[in-house]
Amino acid sequence: MQNSRDFEAVRNDITKILRKPEYDDGSIGPVLVRLAWHASGTYDKETDTGGSNGAGMRYEEEGGDPANAGLQHARVFLEAIKEKHSWITYSDLWTLAGVVAIEQMGGPKIPWKPGRSDFANDSLLPPRGRLPDAAQGSDHLRWVFYKMNMNDQEIVALSGAHSLGRCHSDRSGFEGPWVPNPTRFSNQYYKLLLKLKWQPKNWKGRQGMPFQWAAKAPGVGDDGEELMMLPTDMALIQDPSFRPWVEKYATDKDLFFDHFTKAFAKLIELGVYRNEQGIATFDHLNNSGGMAEYKSAPQKSMRPGASDSGKDGVQISRARL
Ligand code: HEM
Repeated sequence: MQNSRDFEAVRNDITKILRKPEYDDGSIGPVLVRLAWHASGTYDKETDTGGSNGAGMRYEEEGGDPANAGLQHARVFLEAIKEKHSWITYSDLWTLAGVVAIEQMGGPKIPWKPGRSDFANDSLLPPRGRLPDAAQGSDHLRWVFYKMNMNDQEIVALSGAHSLGRCHSDRSGFEGPWVPNPTRFSNQYYKLLLKLKWQPKNWKGRQGMPFQWAAKAPGVGDDGEELMMLPTDMALIQDPSFRPWVEKYATDKDLFFDHFTKAFAKLIELGVYRNEQGIATFDHLNNSGGMAEYKSAPQKSMRPGASDSGKDGVQISRARL
């Protein structure tokens, strides 16, 4: 299966659409990383459900989950790739886009294996409520990530992806970037967590804004954009078991890259069980038996239509190849 499909060509085409000067900080890379993570982070080890196999975010129950707000942009950007390589499954495309984006933004090369399948309908979707709530603390982080079979070290390593991208008030409610250069994968997030003087954000009268932490970036004047940390980010330095990993990753970039690579590769494999042909089946979910084929779902939409535009319904052009 792997040989007959040109995944290298898909990688190259994903690379070509990453730069987008008019979007956020000039790259769609960060939102693609978040898509790969949210596609995978629904895994629950007790029930062996969820994970990246199936690409459930094509359906309203998962795609319209407020925890996934904003990811419709990532999915629409990737429609250009799906149009050109219509054989690829959405579940392979979304996870591959995440690893290509990380690598292209200066991060490590993360092992990625093809073979994921797309659900044919919404009957096997994981329930909502498995992705993390940024307003909470370390107990919640453990509850969420232990379900994915991740330990404290892996929680801290994965959180380092917040060296990329930003929060959007119209998506999660939170606002701002974690680091001054949010399109470069680095260990800057850990350094700034430890180094800056984080204060509760002063929203200056803006109503209904959530609690988050704020600090001035080093060398930035009063009119420069503030950096931010979520309550869950701050939990990493408040919790005695998380904190030593923040300290290690802040001083040892190679160790962070190594641990991030392993944890992200594990994340995108959760709930993915390939048969001898290398195809990930859904047999463990419905005991249906039988052979799975590498059969991709038809293209979703060229435009963010009603069923896949999320709650804010923002219109955004798909990327061009
Ligand atoms: C530890 C628990 C986590 C929480 C509570 C959390 C929460 C959030 C929130 C609230 C946002 C802002 C979304 C928006 O407003 O657009 C965000 C963005 C992001 N998250 Fe996380 N996240 C977590 C873990 C992770 C992990 C494990 C990864 C990847 C390995 C990740 C990658 C990202 C990226 C790349 C963005 C930026 C997206 C963009 O710029 O559009 N996060 N996260």
